[in-house]
Amino acid sequence: MPAPVIRAHGLAKSYRVKGKPDVVAVGGIDFEVAPGESFGLLGPNGAGKSTTMKMIGAVSSRTAGDLEILGLDPDRCGPEIRSRLGVVPQQDNLDGELNARENLYIYGRYFGLPGKVCHRKADELLAFAQLEDKATSKVDQLSGGMKRRLTIARGLINDPRILLLDEPTTGLDPQARHVLWDRLFRLKERGTTLVLTTHYMDEAEQLCDRLIVVDKGRIMAEGTPSSLIREHSSREVLEVRFGSDRNAQAAERLHAVGDRVEVLPDRVLIYTADGEAALERVAAAGLEPVTSLVRRSSLEDVFLRLTGRSLIE
Ligand SMILES: Nc1ncnc2c1ncn2[C@@H]1O[C@H](COP(=O)(O)OP(=O)(O)O)[C@@H](O)[C@H]1O
Ligand SMILES: [Mg+2]
Repeated sequence: MPAPVIRAHGLAKSYRVKGKPDVVAVGGIDFEVAPGESFGLLGPNGAGKSTTMKMIGAVSSRTAGDLEILGLDPDRCGPEIRSRLGVVPQQDNLDGELNARENLYIYGRYFGLPGKVCHRKADELLAFAQLEDKATSKVDQLSGGMKRRLTIARGLINDPRILLLDEPTTGLDPQARHVLWDRLFRLKERGTTLVLTTHYMDEAEQLCDRLIVVDKGRIMAEGTPSSLIREHSSREVLEVRFGSDRNAQAAERLHAVGDRVEVLPDRVLIYTADGEAALERVAAAGLEPVTSLVRRSSLEDVFLRLTGRSLIE
């Protein structure tokens, strides 16, 4: 096993808020990221994902625990760590008054790269981000997806071994998300280590080799997307709807139909190895759902199982 590029042990962060008890954003978490791995933090709003990313990025100090990035302690080697990472923060902080190429150029200069190198890199990265025809457009005029791609391009200017992406596709429409995913796949193929946070289970399933499920500053589970689903859910899920007032009542009579039943406000989920067979048992029990759907289990089901809540509230 090659040495991990990130190692966190008992990592914790509390925020001081005047006149109030401390906010425990990250409550002591352990994880390691291997070189070339695509590692995810999946969890709802407020889980502590951004706080963890800021500690990894050496822009926010930890309250307790050990943290090593590329073998270095961010408390002592912040500048060196920052120079070797690429960062895509949750909030884009591009310069809206400058054009796309200028944003890349200036960021490269900030890293101390010679002007000539910055020009070459800016062109390469504009091509990578599929923004060549937007090179001279002001950033304020770009779409959300384009800004996100430009931020990723900017994060790559120093050839980082690790790229940190905090909610890379939040707020983007489905097509823009897919374009972005494709770019991230390419980075992964080139061997860049990706660490990303998301509250989209499909994004985690698509992009992550391995992930931690986080909630309220704690790790609820860890594994590959498929191992998490195998461990914490059934193979299939039967979703049935009986109409808004009748779901809970119908669910009472469905416990024998599957391994486990979850009642959501708009539907009942029945966890089972064979959804079609479960649907037959629903009918045999004399229940007639308005709609029914059989699907494979997802990370959303894992999260629901572990926390009793949905990822997106
Ligand atoms: N600067 C801050 N001061 C006080 N509380 C904060 C600060 N930043 C985040 N928090 C709190 O810490 C918790 C975790 O936040 P965050 O790391 O942003 O979660 P996530 O990125 O998973 O949504 C939340 O309860 C949030 O309100
Ligand atoms: Mg966040």
